[in-house]
Amino acid sequence: MEPQMSEKSFRKQFIGKSVEELDTPVIVADLDALEANLSLLSGYFSGRHCKVRPHFKSHKCVTMARRQLACPNTVGITCAKISEAEVLVAGGIEDVLLANQLIGRNKVRRLARLNKQARVRGVVDSRQGVDRLGTAARDEGVTIGVLVEVDIGMNRCGVLPGGPALELAELVVRTGGLRFDGLQGYEGHLVTTENYEERCRLVAEALAPLIETRKAIENAGLTVSIVSSGGTGTYDITGNIEGVDEVQCGSYALMDAQYSKVRPEFRNARYVLATVISTRGEKAVADVGLKGMGAEYAAPVVEGHPEAEVLYVAEEHTVIESLAAAPGDRIRLIPPHGCTTNNLYERMWLVRRDIIEDIWPIEGRGCLE
Ligand SMILES: Cc1ncc(COP(=O)(O)O)c(C=O)c1O
Repeated sequence: MEPQMSEKSFRKQFIGKSVEELDTPVIVADLDALEANLSLLSGYFSGRHCKVRPHFKSHKCVTMARRQLACPNTVGITCAKISEAEVLVAGGIEDVLLANQLIGRNKVRRLARLNKQARVRGVVDSRQGVDRLGTAARDEGVTIGVLVEVDIGMNRCGVLPGGPALELAELVVRTGGLRFDGLQGYEGHLVTTENYEERCRLVAEALAPLIETRKAIENAGLTVSIVSSGGTGTYDITGNIEGVDEVQCGSYALMDAQYSKVRPEFRNARYVLATVISTRGEKAVADVGLKGMGAEYAAPVVEGHPEAEVLYVAEEHTVIESLAAAPGDRIRLIPPHGCTTNNLYERMWLVRRDIIEDIWPIEGRGCLE
């Protein structure tokens, strides 16, 4: 399967063939489902103020990022790592938000250099972050757009809303080489709240201090061009709150078993194609484990077999109960966590009605630093 040949002949060997011909495990995405998901989300924002900035973390494919950007109401791409931003810019993406704290001296320099080719904004939540970004920007002769991250209850990164956020915004404004562009506040602790009414209530509560902070900063005479927030679980809540300009949805494109529980309107477009290698009674063992599937939140789901129950996922094996199968049978496992699953593969196979239509490199795979 590994291409000892050119990419072109590699593609030629597989395009038009059945996905069932591939050695397993492989990660596969169904184009009909993917396209339906892309148009559902981008269509939702037609006629609304808020726009979409899809998160790269969920697929890590530059080709997918380009497809997302080609959708209406899409303003740029979000990513989490400087190495991901580099991959995106190398792939021709011109507007990127690096939605994570950058503090390493070399990393801020890399961000500054990237700004010579594209608009790559960063986020900050400390004086040190502001100082280092500013120094790198001045050294490289660029201006870096910066969002101040506000902690809106996730208890991860971010300054507290109100005074601390205003202070940091004013520091950004005073720092040469930086341009204060606005705020980021991510309600990640709420995106999978199962009860929708409760999710709406909690999100409104969490976002209120972010919007108040926006107003306080504007009242102090600063321009807030962007408030960036939200994910797949909250796009239709956060995306309708006045004062939010963009949502950073990622999972909606391919989905996963965990997210499907709260977002049934998006289709599961991604699965890991696996082969049953051993059976005993109604116990079946598949040839993929943690090396090929992000299984940290819950158990994978066996597509088309609601009776099947995954007992456990080991390094190389997934052990399934109540599945009548024979060695050699193929099964499709919907990973509980899609983002970490894509991180494990070099390429994703794109199919329509099980026929391979395209092969996308996962350039952002393993972008750790
Ligand atoms: C900062 C940030 N924004 C947006 C998202 C996208 O979330 P989702 O996959 O829920 O759409 C994430 C996901 O972890 C995130 O960390």
